[in-house]
Amino acid sequence: MYYPDNLVEEVRARNDIVEVISSYVRLQKKGSNHFGLCPFHNEKTASFSVSQPKQMYHCFGCGKSGNVITFIMEYENYTFPEALKLLADRAGVSLPEIEYSKEEKERDSLKTRVLEAYREAGVYYYRVLRSDAGKRAYDYFKDRGLSDETINKFGLGFAVTGRNLLYNHLRSKGFDDRVLNEMRIFRMSERDGMTDIFWNRAIFPIMNVSNKIIAFGGRVMGQGEPKYLNSPESIVFDKGRNLYGLNHARISRKNNIIVCEGYMDVIALHQAGFNQAVGSLGTALTSGHVNLLKRYTDNVLLCYDNDGAGTKANLRAIQMLRDVGLSVKVINMSPHKDPDEFLSNLGAEEFETRIKNAENAFYYEVRMLEGDHDLNDPDGRTRFANEVAKKLLKFEDPIERDNYLEAICVKYHIKTENMSKLLAKLAARGEGIEVYERPRSGIHSSSPEDGIKKTQKLLLTWLCDDPGIYRLIGKYLTADDFTEEIYRKAAAMLFDQIEKDEINPARIVSCFTSEEEQNEIGSLFNTKLEMLETRQDREKALKDLLLKVKTYSFDMQRNNNEQTDLNTLDQAIKNKKILQEIQALKLELSE
Ligand code: UTP
Ligand code: MN
Repeated sequence: MYYPDNLVEEVRARNDIVEVISSYVRLQKKGSNHFGLCPFHNEKTASFSVSQPKQMYHCFGCGKSGNVITFIMEYENYTFPEALKLLADRAGVSLPEIEYSKEEKERDSLKTRVLEAYREAGVYYYRVLRSDAGKRAYDYFKDRGLSDETINKFGLGFAVTGRNLLYNHLRSKGFDDRVLNEMRIFRMSERDGMTDIFWNRAIFPIMNVSNKIIAFGGRVMGQGEPKYLNSPESIVFDKGRNLYGLNHARISRKNNIIVCEGYMDVIALHQAGFNQAVGSLGTALTSGHVNLLKRYTDNVLLCYDNDGAGTKANLRAIQMLRDVGLSVKVINMSPHKDPDEFLSNLGAEEFETRIKNAENAFYYEVRMLEGDHDLNDPDGRTRFANEVAKKLLKFEDPIERDNYLEAICVKYHIKTENMSKLLAKLAARGEGIEVYERPRSGIHSSSPEDGIKKTQKLLLTWLCDDPGIYRLIGKYLTADDFTEEIYRKAAAMLFDQIEKDEINPARIVSCFTSEEEQNEIGSLFNTKLEMLETRQDREKALKDLLLKVKTYSFDMQRNNNEQTDLNTLDQAIKNKKILQEIQALKLELSE
């Protein structure tokens, strides 16, 4: 945790959730809640609710849930400290400097200086582009169809031919050699001292998600090798963890991200309105990239070059993205080579159509397999069918698998029955049974564990909405009755608040710093309780919930105890008595 709990709480409490969310979403008051269209998924009827008393939001459609800090994290795609900063500024609360160790501080201040130097270098190259000396590059960009607005948006610049113009400029601005060295864009030579690496190149600043320049790419003017020269990795630039254009794409509010190869591809796409495009800049997609993408979207559209290397990149990316549960499609750009060329030849509307028709990654993979086999040859067909079967086995969901199986069999004139047999044979051999951990989506499949989780959630929501019932059932309940670690923590905090008569579920949410955890905690206190008409019905429902939670908790306890434990029997008898007591309990709920 970066900041003390009390401070986090102060910032949270000073930002009324209805006020804050109202500046992003149109809300309407209905009863004690406000409702609006959920900003986190597409919907036509409002299932996004904001509760002023609870200071929490919850979407009954997609399950997103949390307090005002969570909202800012999700909406702006901010980290916890970033969201806190925004809200602190909004409410006029000042946050203290974060405490770091001496080494961290030194590294941090060096990093800060390097970023400042990059910023200054960016400004310098940008000014050169707009000066007489930059006319050639400016014309080049214009020739490639870029508007002034686009040139600005991407901060494009120009490095003229000159030994150490940038170096001298930065020195004159007070940056010392230690800092300039860390930028990695100067070369040390015996004869000339420090020299610039970018000469006579159009400059593309690479920014991180906080809009800070962390590297440059430089394109030769006209022909020459290498076509693009990139600044190497440095203390501020980790290639495998940055995607070009993500600083813009992350706030595009589209429900997908387009991944392409080149600088100009990203820029052309943005200019044409596809502001959700990012570039992996000619390097193979890394797991760092994948995680980054996952943070911002559920749907990835691949748009690598339309050539052999692009196909390879697609197949590799599909596998990696799918492994973390992202949905993947491939955009077909033929007959053009890359999105930039596509757009200048066929235009944005046609590209939009290509997005709509993007090919499901599985079909794409199968189509590529098809190219590797001679389907007119019986052996080729058999091998092809085997490969397809292996791919089908990767689907965990049997319905999904069946659907694909059917579709593929129709397309390639294979008997469904035969394909099913083949699948069974391969599965028996243990083929394709790797199970990947899927990231949590809002909607959970229903397994027995989900059932008990739901019960626990209902009980917590009820306690939060009507803390008076704690008086009646509190003595039977402990935080340890909740089987998920995160539920346990939340329950302990809630019970503590109830005992102190300071109910504040929104405060509990911000004790967790990741969005996933905050969503989960949010949903604990926002599970839909059925409106039960009569008092008796409610009393019965509450008792049932309590019994279910306790029974499960005792079951778990027993499973965890050693078989030989002499106390086990004792404990079992005690537990049984407690359950009987609950059964006999006279709950007197108020009307
Ligand atoms: P391409 O060769 O496809 O170039 O490289 P491009 O993006 O179409 O470039 P333009 O349109 O001719 O300007 C794709 C990407 O691979 C990286 C760059 O990021 C480039 O945008 N690359 C390419 C390099 O880093 N160095 C190179 O020498 C070439
Ligand atoms: Mn190109």
